[in-house]
Amino acid sequence: MDDKTYAILCENLTKTFGEGETAVHALRGINFRAQLGKLTLLVGPSGCGKTTLLSVITGLLDATAGHLNILNQDPAKASASQRLLFRRDNIGFVFQSYNLLPALTAAENAAIPLLAAGTPWEVALAKSEQVLTTLGLKKRLLARPAELSGGEQQRVAIARAIVHEPRLIVCDEPTSALDAQTGHSVMELLSKTVLSPERAIIVVTHDERIFPFAHTIAHMNDGVITRTDYAN
Ligand SMILES: Nc1ncnc2c1ncn2[C@@H]1O[C@H](COP(=O)(O)OP(=O)(O)OP(=O)(O)O)[C@@H](O)[C@H]1O
Ligand SMILES: [Mg+2]
Repeated sequence: MDDKTYAILCENLTKTFGEGETAVHALRGINFRAQLGKLTLLVGPSGCGKTTLLSVITGLLDATAGHLNILNQDPAKASASQRLLFRRDNIGFVFQSYNLLPALTAAENAAIPLLAAGTPWEVALAKSEQVLTTLGLKKRLLARPAELSGGEQQRVAIARAIVHEPRLIVCDEPTSALDAQTGHSVMELLSKTVLSPERAIIVVTHDERIFPFAHTIAHMNDGVITRTDYAN
């Protein structure tokens, strides 16, 4: 199999929090793949390890054991600073809890990945405002997170994940706070405009309304992938 067609390859990944009797075995040997050019859903009950798996894939957490390959890179062979730069340039992440910076406006929050990479302020803000506008937030560009509804904050988090056009976009419950129509248009944007042959999108969801957007659905339970369905 040609590994270059995969954005993510996980083999026997484990993640244990803590030690001894109180240890939590959140990932128990994950074998998971996400293809370039595809939208892969990760579904499973609360507590089964979905956020933990995304955190390991995106380098926010280190795996306890196993092998991980991201966009043909082995993070285990990179230094901490190389991993940080790689993540900055190649990965967009929508957190389950949004993680917006309260002191910044919507436009500034969504511009963070560009600003972190050294893009001039005006250019970064213009791009951020354009992405927020496509997400229906043209009138809320100058609002701060506390002034935004949950669904609006969620869309700012989505804008922040895609603004720098990363090759891997990882979304943890990106439609949980959105009404049916807004959720549908966000998934249309991700699957039709943002997805390309060079990119992969991974979405954790409980939202069955977005299943039709997926090329692949990986089912997870109790720290392992139990089944993978491929759309025709
Ligand atoms: N930092 C941590 N320390 C200890 N245990 C943790 C930590 N983070 C997660 N866990 C535990 O690991 C398991 C998997 O958690 P995780 O957040 O990955 O689940 P999830 O599938 O994302 O759930 P949900 O659908 O509710 O978001 C849970 O039992 C959780 O309590
Ligand atoms: Mg979670």
